Amino acid sequence: MKPNDRNNTPVILEKDAKAWWKEGVLYQIYPQSFKDTTGDGFGDFQGVIQKLDYLESLGITMVWMNPFFGSPLVDNGYDVSNYTAIHPRYGTMEDFQEMLDGLHCRGIKFVLDVVVNHSSNEHPWFQQSRSSRDNPYRDYYHWWPAEKGTPPFRDSIFDPEGAWQFDQQTNAYYLHYFAKEQPDLNWENPKVRQEIYAIMKFWAEKGVDGFRMDAFQYASKDTTFPEWPKGHEKEYDKWYGMRPQLHDYLKEMYTEVIEPYNLFAVAEGAGTSFKDAHDLVDADRNELQVAYHFDCRDISKDLEGYQLSEFKAVFTKWDAAFKNNGWLAIYLSNHDVARLIDRYGNTDAAFRTPSAQMLNTFLLSMRGTPYTYYGDELGMTNIDMPKIEEYVDVSAIGDYNRAKAEGEDMDQFMKKLNFNSRENARTPMQWDSTKNGGFTEGKPWKKVNDNHQTINVVAQNKDPKSILNHFRKMVKLRKDNPVLVYGQYQILQESHSEIYAYTRTLDEQQVLVLLNFSKKQATITLEETTKTGTLLINNYDRLDAKEGQITLQPYQAIICELIN
Ligand code: GLC
Repeated sequence: MKPNDRNNTPVILEKDAKAWWKEGVLYQIYPQSFKDTTGDGFGDFQGVIQKLDYLESLGITMVWMNPFFGSPLVDNGYDVSNYTAIHPRYGTMEDFQEMLDGLHCRGIKFVLDVVVNHSSNEHPWFQQSRSSRDNPYRDYYHWWPAEKGTPPFRDSIFDPEGAWQFDQQTNAYYLHYFAKEQPDLNWENPKVRQEIYAIMKFWAEKGVDGFRMDAFQYASKDTTFPEWPKGHEKEYDKWYGMRPQLHDYLKEMYTEVIEPYNLFAVAEGAGTSFKDAHDLVDADRNELQVAYHFDCRDISKDLEGYQLSEFKAVFTKWDAAFKNNGWLAIYLSNHDVARLIDRYGNTDAAFRTPSAQMLNTFLLSMRGTPYTYYGDELGMTNIDMPKIEEYVDVSAIGDYNRAKAEGEDMDQFMKKLNFNSRENARTPMQWDSTKNGGFTEGKPWKKVNDNHQTINVVAQNKDPKSILNHFRKMVKLRKDNPVLVYGQYQILQESHSEIYAYTRTLDEQQVLVLLNFSKKQATITLEETTKTGTLLINNYDRLDAKEGQITLQPYQAIICELIN
């Protein structure tokens, strides 16, 4: 098959039919950190509009933007008080429409973040709900009357005090899996569900192409709230998420919104088993199209780093489980974890560029829809924030208070937080080497990484060998070669301790991917390397190959065609 000849891509099975969201390359924008045009220090829609040509130049075909709705911003917008309004710091609805049209003109689809496991405590629904026990909105949330005694323990992801918050006004506790300002919505209530579908339709009418369902696996709950065994919270997703009713809600949502508007939907979280994940995304179930699991977030273990063997095992087992049905996202970073290159690459000056390129080669050559987090196309890195006073994130502060209460070694805790905190991933985009990295003329809401002097778009645009230009090449390669989208994945020599090797195969076309995950030269001997054809991409100028043996430089990444 000729590259570029997408129309000839054979459909493997009916249920594995081609789809734009399978062929897509998604780019995630954290809007407050992308580009500020008003000088208030927060990114905005006009900033994205200014950078539309940049987005197009990347070749990406989908943008997922984190929340920008009406919100008191306790969790940077994941606490929504008005789902159909734009928070003024991002601009107006007209700006949104202009941004959306601008993306669409460039062939880029837009994925909206839908945060409906919970709302803000300032949402009018919650204000009503808490006002009296017989208010019509009472059942929009989960309440436990105090006269029944203390509610059964439920842990909170953000709040060391637990997930029940006592509310004086009606002498009752309400449930919040995240911060106390994020009360959980009661999905059991059909009125709540209809309100949510109305919100989704509102945005569908505006022209968005898809939804990312935030924390959605927690939407269904056992609302009889039984006592759970001590320690259950260690398996949070198992106990708190993926109750069977979730599938009823998703099917209903599919019929009400997803299907009529021909939308795409991706869930955050994929349950705790392959069965859970299949039940969410299998083509014949009519629920969601894609999910992303948390296993790949958890391969990197704090300061200890990660084992390549585990990395390979995670991606290989998920691929195998989804070989014939269902589709997943492939990602290694987002707004909830530290920077890609710090966790999986190498930030030393000598290795930063090749390791970032190698990781991007991996993400863009796997089966599944690749998600790139803004700045990872440049190899943006963590920042240094050794003191707790520098943190604003509700999750960091919650973890800090919890560690303190549990008597942890706080020096060690701060070291871990400094490395692991999701604030690392929220620093402003590094556009150029000027003050504030070209992000804002004002005072940035979060300090710009000092390394913007060297790591920035302007510098990397000029350098044909930069991380950025390699990313562009990789995106193009994926778009030109359906084998990289639909081809079967086969790991080779799984036990190799430095190199991750695999093939992708689609009918006649087969490619070999070799990735050196180490800072040393590494050699691999494979039968496949005697059949190498055109080298499709290489992040070094050289490739040392002889007699079926290939030696890769530190973090070298290559893809070549195999001739059978
Ligand atoms: C999801 C989001 C995260 C947010 C949380 C609560 O996990 O990705 O950023 O804090 O939900 O909405």
